[in-house]
Amino acid sequence: MAFDANRADLCVGVIGTGAMGRGIVQVSAAGGMHVLMMDTRPGAADEARDFVAKMLLRAAEKGSMSKADADAATARIRVAQSLAEFKDCHMVVEAIVENLDAKRALFGELEGVVKPDCILATNTSSMSVTTIAAKLKTPQRFAGLHFFNPVPLMKLVEVIDGLLTENWVSEALMVIGKRMTREPVRLTDAPGFLVNQVGRGFTLEASHLVYEGVSNFVDVDRVMRDVCGFRMGPFELMELTGLDVTQPASSLIYNQFFQEPRYRPNLIMQSRYEAGVLGRKSKKGFYNYDAEMKPIIAPEPAAPTAKPASVWVSKAEPQGHEVLTALLTKLGATIESGAKPSAKALIFVTPIGKDATTSAVEEGLDPKRTVAVDTLFPMVKRRTIMGTPLTDAAMKDAAHGLLASDGVPVTVCRDSPGFIAQRIVAMIVNIGCSIAQSRTAQPADIDKAVVLGLNYPNGPLKFGDVAGVERIHQVLATMNSIYADPRYRPNIWMRRRAQLGVSLLTPEP
Ligand code: NAI
Repeated sequence: MAFDANRADLCVGVIGTGAMGRGIVQVSAAGGMHVLMMDTRPGAADEARDFVAKMLLRAAEKGSMSKADADAATARIRVAQSLAEFKDCHMVVEAIVENLDAKRALFGELEGVVKPDCILATNTSSMSVTTIAAKLKTPQRFAGLHFFNPVPLMKLVEVIDGLLTENWVSEALMVIGKRMTREPVRLTDAPGFLVNQVGRGFTLEASHLVYEGVSNFVDVDRVMRDVCGFRMGPFELMELTGLDVTQPASSLIYNQFFQEPRYRPNLIMQSRYEAGVLGRKSKKGFYNYDAEMKPIIAPEPAAPTAKPASVWVSKAEPQGHEVLTALLTKLGATIESGAKPSAKALIFVTPIGKDATTSAVEEGLDPKRTVAVDTLFPMVKRRTIMGTPLTDAAMKDAAHGLLASDGVPVTVCRDSPGFIAQRIVAMIVNIGCSIAQSRTAQPADIDKAVVLGLNYPNGPLKFGDVAGVERIHQVLATMNSIYADPRYRPNIWMRRRAQLGVSLLTPEP
């Protein structure tokens, strides 16, 4: 099919003019295309057109476009009263209610209205593109065009090939996406598409570890911000999005993947969702809020002043031994050099994917004096430690006091394979690798989409590269054996790259 996605008079139809539809109208008109829009709620499309006109004017006032361009963009937007008016559109994107029957009914009707080469696209956030297309007479011209909220600010758009989508359709949508000044990323249909799949690693693993009693919401958020560079911790993010969105999306992705354990939801989210404790929108969530909607967070308690007389650092993880010894030397600790710790020494272990207990038992160390330190990530802005269930409080305080003695805060969590950061990052990397393995998207596109769509400091594959592919694989393989839960089984696509010692971003012919 010859489709000219660059034609000057390209007309985009937008059906449903709520939060998403109006954003799509705005970027289409601003991108030089003609727009025809419609909504079944009386007056809604007119309201949306006025809203978009105001937004375009504001953009002109801020200097991001000229007043003439804003006026011209507004003039390109028309409101339709009936579907019949969409007959000359070159493509139509749907942003109506998230309901399969409603979407299928709309596209069924549209098929009888538009020309044979008109592209039909859905902005569904959670349904399979292939499923929506399944009842159409012409599923080959149907694709997903998944924008992010708020559309004008979020540059990413996922262009999704359904099973029967023809290549010209997605190629044209890639061009149109660029004309809308978006960053389109092409992928094949999958539950959660790309970005929402990766997002499960962050929020679900955080919920699982809090559910297990390893840590609390506030500390997990602190660790993920300070240690891994996320702008928001997983619970802060869920507060913002709302559990009425996050929890159903999580359950859906899990079930659409036939209960794949990697995506298993958690009771922490489900019970809050059911109780209506949704986050900022219900003024109560993982955090409580003051009258100005600032989260009420108790300040971190001051670090203990205690210091150990001497420390001994396990060599079981040579890299961990090296970085921790360097840090302890800088902090002025007395470091023992013997093959075994002296009778009074504070014992440090630096496990990758192991808990403190397993480390102590396997290495024949005294569990009462053993404290584990997470050395996988830079220990510059925050450090994480954990003891065994038997570690003396005085030993833990001494470890905390020593590691905080240069003013860097220390988070103490309960014993857990992978501490906090190791296990959350490893899950994100694992999901990124499974997306690459299933050829849902190319490795570079996976990272690009996640950075643009989720604002993560790195895409999942770069996260793996930075921490070390072999070590992320080790976190997962070790957790898998300790938990005996396939949730943690490392992806074989990752394993091969770990074995070969190459970047997760290495292109494969
Ligand atoms: P919304 O509720 O703000 O807007 C939906 C609009 O569609 C309403 O104005 C409604 O009157 C209209 N509508 C419903 N049935 C219609 C029909 N048969 N024909 C014409 N108009 C109809 O919803 P929102 O948030 O804009 O979502 C729209 C779609 O975009 C959904 O499929 C949603 O899953 C998806 N989406 C939403 C995101 C978000 O963050 N809100 C992000 C990405 C996708």
